[in-house]
Amino acid sequence: MPNTVVVGTQWGDEGKGKIVDLLTAEADVVVRYQGGNNAGHTLVVEGKKFIFHLIPSGILYEGKKCLIGNGLVVDPGILLKEMENLEKAGIRVDPERLALSEKAHVIMPYHKAVDLAREAAKGKEKIGTTGRGIGPCYEDKAARIGIRAIDLTEPETLEKKIKACLKEKNFYLQQFLDGQALDEKEVLKETLAYGKKLSSFLTDVSLEMEEALKRKKNILFEGAQGTHLDIDHGTYPFVTSSNPVAGAACAGAGVGPGQLHHVVGVVKAYTTRVGAGPFVTELTDGTGDYIQERGKEFGSTTGRRRRCGWLDLVVLKDSARLNGLNSLAITKLDVLTGLDTLRVCVGYEWKGQRLPSRPASLSKFAECTPVYQELHGWQEDISGARQLADLPAQARTYLDVIQEKTGVPLSIVSVGPARKETIMIKNPFHSS
Ligand code: IMP
Repeated sequence: MPNTVVVGTQWGDEGKGKIVDLLTAEADVVVRYQGGNNAGHTLVVEGKKFIFHLIPSGILYEGKKCLIGNGLVVDPGILLKEMENLEKAGIRVDPERLALSEKAHVIMPYHKAVDLAREAAKGKEKIGTTGRGIGPCYEDKAARIGIRAIDLTEPETLEKKIKACLKEKNFYLQQFLDGQALDEKEVLKETLAYGKKLSSFLTDVSLEMEEALKRKKNILFEGAQGTHLDIDHGTYPFVTSSNPVAGAACAGAGVGPGQLHHVVGVVKAYTTRVGAGPFVTELTDGTGDYIQERGKEFGSTTGRRRRCGWLDLVVLKDSARLNGLNSLAITKLDVLTGLDTLRVCVGYEWKGQRLPSRPASLSKFAECTPVYQELHGWQEDISGARQLADLPAQARTYLDVIQEKTGVPLSIVSVGPARKETIMIKNPFHSS
C-alpha cells in the first residue's frame, strides 16, 4: 500500500490532526519530519483529552511505531512532559513504540530566550512566532553550532558546545536584546538530565525507515504547519523556519523521494492564520467572527485567536503544485453551515492586473485584492453526512469548485470533530 504524506495547504491549523488520526488506522509507522512544538493538536479519545506537540498521535493506537525525524527541532523538556502525560493516561511510551532521531536538533533554553526577546524588540514588526525557540534553533543548525539529540549523551561534547554557544548567545541577549544572560552550568545540568532520560529513545530514524520499507510496512509522514508557512515557499518572512512541504519528508526522515507515494493536502474549508503577515481573504466583520466562533479558532499551542477569512483557491493551487498533491482532505466543512452566501477567492488582482499565483514580493501581495466567486450557502446540519450524496447540493457545489479550480480530487471530507464525522471518499492508503 502506498506510503502517504499529510501536509497542510494553507497557513497551518488545517485540521491535520484529525486526518492523521484517521489515516493512522492503516499505518504501521508514523513519522514526523519537520517543525517542533510550535505545532499542536488536540484529540479526544474515549473521553480523554490529549494534546500533541511533538509525539505523533499514532501513539494512541496499539502496534504503531512513532518516529520523530532528524528534520525536527526538539525541546526535550516538552517531549518528556508529553511522554509523562501519556503514561499518566495509561498509554505505554517506550522505545519499542516511540523513537527520536539522534540527529534531531535540540531547542536549548537560549533559543527560547532569543525567540521571545527578539519578538519583543521587534514590537509592531514582530512575526508572531509561537515563542518556542524554533527559529533560533534552526538558525544554529544552519550555522553548524547546533546541539543534536546525540550530543545529550556525550557530556564532554555537550559541555564544549554549550560553552562556545553561550558565550555568543549571552552577549547577544544582554547587549543587543536587553535580555538576561543564562548560566552555563545550569544549562548543562538541565540538558544532561534530559539526555539521561531520553537516551534509550534515540535511534537512527533513517535505518528504522529502511527496515520498515523492507518489511513492506505502511508509512505515514506527518507534516506540521502549512505550505504557506514554508521557509522557502511561504509568505516570507512571516513563515516558520522549516519546510512543511511534502518534499521535505525525505530529508527530514531520511528516505528517498521514491518512497513517497501519495500526498494528501489538508484544506480547511475556509482560511485561518495566526501570527502576522498579509491575508488577502481575511474577514474582519461579523462573518469572520461567525467562522471564528463556530470553528473554535484558537491556536492549540499558544491559545491565540486565529484570523479567519474565505477560502483562497490561489493559495491552494500553489500548494497543489508545491507538494505534488494527489488528493485533498477538506476539513471543517460543517463550520460554514448557516451562511447564506459563501465566497471563494479564484484570483488576485494587483494594480488592475490579474496574477496567476501568489507573488513572492510581500508588499505586492499585501496590495492584492481578491477576485471572488460567490456560491450559495446551506442551512442544514451536515455533521451526519457519511457520503457525498448526503450533503446538500450547495455543499457539493462548494466541494466541486475546490476540485475543479485546484485540479486535485478529494479523498476525505470532514464534517465534524469526531472520527466518525467523516466522508471517506477514497482512503489514500488504498489508492494505487
Ligand atoms: P514559529 O514557527 O514559532 O517560528 O512561528 C512562525 C510563524 O509560524 C508564526 O506566524 C506562527 O504563528 C506560525 N506557526 C508556527 N507553527 C504553527 C502551527 O502549527 N500552526 C499555525 N501557525 C503556526
